[in-house]
Amino acid sequence: MKPACIFDLDGVIVDTAKYHYLAWKRLANSLGFDFTEHDNEQLKGVSRVESLKLILRLGGKQLDDAEFDAALVRKNGWYLEYIQQIGSEEILPGAAEFLTSVRAQGIKVALGSASKNAVLILERIQLLDQFDAIVDGNKVSKAKPDPEVFLKAAEELAVPASACIVFEDAVAGVQAARNAGMKVVGIGSAAVLDQANLVLPNFAGLSIADVLARDEILLP
Ligand code: G6P
Ligand code: MG
Repeated sequence: MKPACIFDLDGVIVDTAKYHYLAWKRLANSLGFDFTEHDNEQLKGVSRVESLKLILRLGGKQLDDAEFDAALVRKNGWYLEYIQQIGSEEILPGAAEFLTSVRAQGIKVALGSASKNAVLILERIQLLDQFDAIVDGNKVSKAKPDPEVFLKAAEELAVPASACIVFEDAVAGVQAARNAGMKVVGIGSAAVLDQANLVLPNFAGLSIADVLARDEILLP
């Protein structure tokens, strides 16, 4: 059976983590506390709402429902301001070439991201046309590590979960892929992503053939 590939966006295809961080830090500062780059690590792959809950816990701050919603809007406004300028130079090393190698083999490609800004970002970096299906934060109700986002992506591609390979940089995302019954390639540190079948530092110099040749990624 032909496999399918499902890619997370932030931290796998594009380097947006620093802009999320700047926007969250600005929000934290406006609420009277600081938010460090170290704290930001915990937010990788975490939805906007869950991220704010975590930040408020870290800052020891409580907001009522209306203030909470307003804070989400403010953070996203700043984030959108920061990503106004992004272009294909923010694509992570080798990611665009890797996607090309997947499509060249006739393998279907989906996006599986928690971000509600995914389509906008893919347009900016000119990769939107590389995806056969897009499942983003607007289409799911359960955050990773729930498998919903990846199961929906497999469904949209009409490929069984057991034939899907997920590419993820976040611990919650790796767990979501495992929970979906999929193979998962971690992008980043093997010490952090120890639940992935295989971990690669990035896509530089790699093609899908290199991944499919690995014993760790045996597909049905
Ligand atoms: C990704 C990022 C998170 C971000 C989430 C929601 O998972 O790794 O840092 O909070 O998407 O993104 P959004 O663009 O909808 O705020
Ligand atoms: Mg990510």
